[in-house]
Amino acid sequence: MTNLRSSSPDFALSRLVPLLLSLLLPLLLPLLLSLLLVGNHALADGLELQPRMGARLSGLTVSEVERFLTGKALYSMPIPIESGLGPIMNKSNCGSCHSNPLGGWGPITVTRFGMEKKGVFSLYPGETQSLAQSLANSIFCAEIVPPDATVVAVRVTNSSLAFGLVEAIPDAQVSANADEFDADGDGVSGRVHWVTPLEAPTGSPLRAGRFGWKAQIATVISFSSDAARNEMGFTNRFTPEENPPNGDDARMAICDDVADPEDVVDTNGIGFIDRVTDFQRFLAPPPQTPKSGMDGEALFDQIGCSKCHIAQFTTSTDPSLEDAIRSKVIRPYCDFLLHDVGLIADGVSHGNASEAEMRTPTLWGLRRRDPMLHNASVAGGSFTARATAAIAAHGPFGEGSASALAFANLSAVEKVKLVKFLDSLGRAEFDFDGDNIVDILDFFALQTCVAQGFTNPNDDCAIADVDQNGTVDATDVDLFVTAFDGDILDCNDNGFADLRDIALGSSQDANNDGVPDECLPCAADTNADDQVNGIDLAFVLADWGGSGGGDVNHNGVVDGVDLAIVLAGWGACP
Ligand code: HEC
Ligand code: HEC
Repeated sequence: MTNLRSSSPDFALSRLVPLLLSLLLPLLLPLLLSLLLVGNHALADGLELQPRMGARLSGLTVSEVERFLTGKALYSMPIPIESGLGPIMNKSNCGSCHSNPLGGWGPITVTRFGMEKKGVFSLYPGETQSLAQSLANSIFCAEIVPPDATVVAVRVTNSSLAFGLVEAIPDAQVSANADEFDADGDGVSGRVHWVTPLEAPTGSPLRAGRFGWKAQIATVISFSSDAARNEMGFTNRFTPEENPPNGDDARMAICDDVADPEDVVDTNGIGFIDRVTDFQRFLAPPPQTPKSGMDGEALFDQIGCSKCHIAQFTTSTDPSLEDAIRSKVIRPYCDFLLHDVGLIADGVSHGNASEAEMRTPTLWGLRRRDPMLHNASVAGGSFTARATAAIAAHGPFGEGSASALAFANLSAVEKVKLVKFLDSLGRAEFDFDGDNIVDILDFFALQTCVAQGFTNPNDDCAIADVDQNGTVDATDVDLFVTAFDGDILDCNDNGFADLRDIALGSSQDANNDGVPDECLPCAADTNADDQVNGIDLAFVLADWGGSGGGDVNHNGVVDGVDLAIVLAGWGACP
């Protein structure tokens, strides 16, 4: 049996008895040649599978891949206290919050607190910031949320997937969608959160913020620096000072014995925050399957969801960007603008973002997101239940209320279509059952789709129609083999994956186990005498070119493949 993943088609020649070899050489030669040819079959031009959630961008250079992997390792490595973790923090590493997938969303929330007066937020007296740190190196410097804080709000972990691409959306594209004073009177405004990156020299122009629930940050390195200090107490060159617990410098002094900045850079000036920035910048966007054409997306446009959840952007043409990031079309379903969210507002102002405002979240990868909404208030249950509840939360008094109402007024069939579209955001190609693994269960669904023939973007078979040509055909089956997470076997040694043979009908699989029938023990025992021997061989040779009993693999012709099967099965049946 050949494993196509680990070796080229080297079929069963090694098992041939030399005598047979000399006898059969004239016959085997063309077979050999044909196997070498088919073993090289190329995928259709330009067709490529979308990276799965949490994978790296395609098209990275070797050194970029190395940077991605180094950053990935550091992202989930706990920082020891001796190296600078704390004195107060929420976790010891980025990955413990950004866990689904690594670098993505997560169920963990952080707390912000402060005081409210006539709807206006202010820091709790004596505090330097609104974020609470729930852990401390020592009980002497633990921070508490003061019981008389009048605003206590939580924010859930959102994701860094594709952040190199998001960072590379030109500011002008973000601001082009803003409509701060609702000039068109549609009830949806949206404004840019202009911010200064931490790393920018004084006097640099403001940048369009896009990261964080309040679009409070514009660049990945700024977020890495901010998160390292604020979530982990790991000071670095852009945020060189620790947060004192509840603003108390004296208490902090007891517990803070590592010199700042704690992120020590190497001789090239590269430190932890730069490495984790590499990882986040080189993460791929979540897949979307099918890529386009669903009725549900047309409805999404029709009822105004896409006024804020804008489907598509093109990244900058800036020559200093990496090839994998420059001039790329991305589909985040987000405007990166601030909107008044009405009743679900958190009451916390952050930079220039007001108590009532939140940045539109991206919707790519939505199918994997649990919980949803900034405060994690929609959690558990089915995807449909979560998506429906998140849409309803756009309701009272927010800019999204008209579209939430329009959704409520859709027919049951239309609602199903819209949610089905949302469920395509984050789905890997061929992952019919949506478990993010392409396995034998997905193969059985693929077989049904090949048999069905015609498909369209609203049909479940569209999950396998990668080239979206309306049928699940040989091109898609070849891509399935590439996507399959199990071993790719070639038990009949014909140079093609067994799954391909079965899906396209050149092999039968009567017992539906994903193994071609000719590979079952004694499939080549044409005369049923429990021996695969010279009699069976003679039978195949006598029937050469025909389609009778020598057609061991039932593909309609007796050829070199049948011969190879006889030779591979040579001997007594088990
Ligand atoms: C304690 C949990 C926690 C840890 C640890 C943590 N984060 Fe976060 N992260 C969050 C939360 C919560 C948010 C949303 C914050 C907000 O907008 O106020 C977030 C947001 C982000 C964002 C913006 C995402 C978006 O979609 O806009 C980035 C980038 C980020 N974190 C990077 C990091 C990095 C890098 C580290 C490690 C140095 C890290 N985080 C550690 C919880 C965490
Ligand atoms: C006015 C702008 C706007 C419109 C219109 C809008 N949204 Fe949103 N959407 C937002 C904002 C802002 C949030 C974040 C709310 C929060 O968590 O506070 C959000 C959150 C969501 C979420 C939850 C995502 C997550 O990560 O938690 C989903 C799902 C969603 N919207 C889908 C839709 C759909 C479907 C429509 C159309 C019916 C729609 N939105 C219309 C701005 C909008």
